[in-house]
Amino acid sequence: MTKRVLVTHQLPGERFHDLCAHCDVNVWMGPGLLSAEALREELAGCHGLLCLLTDRITAELLAQMPDLEFVSSMSVGVDHVDTAALSARNIPLGHTPGVLVDTTADTAFALMMAASRRVVEADHFVRQGNWTPENAWAPDFFTGKDVSGATLGIVGMGAIGQAMARRAQGFGMRVLGWNRSPRDVAGIDSVDLDKLLAESDFVSIHVALADETRMLINADKIALMKPGSVLVNSARGGIVDEDALAQALLSGHLYAAGIDVFEREPVPTDNPLLTLPNVVVAPHIGSATVNTRARMADLAVENALAALAGERMPHCFNP
Ligand code: DGY
Repeated sequence: MTKRVLVTHQLPGERFHDLCAHCDVNVWMGPGLLSAEALREELAGCHGLLCLLTDRITAELLAQMPDLEFVSSMSVGVDHVDTAALSARNIPLGHTPGVLVDTTADTAFALMMAASRRVVEADHFVRQGNWTPENAWAPDFFTGKDVSGATLGIVGMGAIGQAMARRAQGFGMRVLGWNRSPRDVAGIDSVDLDKLLAESDFVSIHVALADETRMLINADKIALMKPGSVLVNSARGGIVDEDALAQALLSGHLYAAGIDVFEREPVPTDNPLLTLPNVVVAPHIGSATVNTRARMADLAVENALAALAGERMPHCFNP
């Protein structure tokens, strides 16, 4: 019997035609993202699902899909999937680690630089016609915060955290690191989280979102951060208390923030972070280069092809 697989978005990359050769593929053509209701309708009777991080794969949805044999997500993070519900049915979950490491670290570094040197604020200043002879170069004109020689604290020393550390070392930064399960990484001083927050001029988050990391950077932790420091989050919004962060930025306790991910995405326009000039924001573009997105899609297809062949996925999240 030919297996049926739902693909929730058109995919880049080179492997998609292989998937079409091995199963009956239904690709959601939009417009926009699949709603929860449309996902349920389209997935009914399917044996496989190739999804994005915007598709919520809940226990309730899974309970209505008795034929489902595998899920392959084109993402490294799997917080959009109820992994326990999948594992309870021995349904493998594929994800795409590795291929997005450097691209995501580049984004985090770019946000750190942009926030510390006020790049977006300066861009708006020029475009809005504010750069006038009365309001021009002066000793304190658009002064920011040095990255070179500063201390960077990396929260989560996995592959992306380590790639961020390599970039920081190239800029002459001292690098501190914290990981949930302690690990030694050359060139990174491993410290506890409170010490990292208290000593770092810049803090960059690179942990996955899980029960243990939800609101890890809450009001208490933000209060521990070094006065005048900068927070960068390119991991997941749910790791940081956004209201507490906005308060700390407003009060001047923190100098700036660079935020690529939000608790609710797309971020509602009344999110307080969007009103602050010292916050640089992006719409979850950490892995968004043409090459990296193609590699992620190819890996997601390879996971799906392995599952269709009854083999272990090359990148299976659940054991
Ligand atoms: C992922 O794959 O989880 C990333 O957030 C995509 O940018």
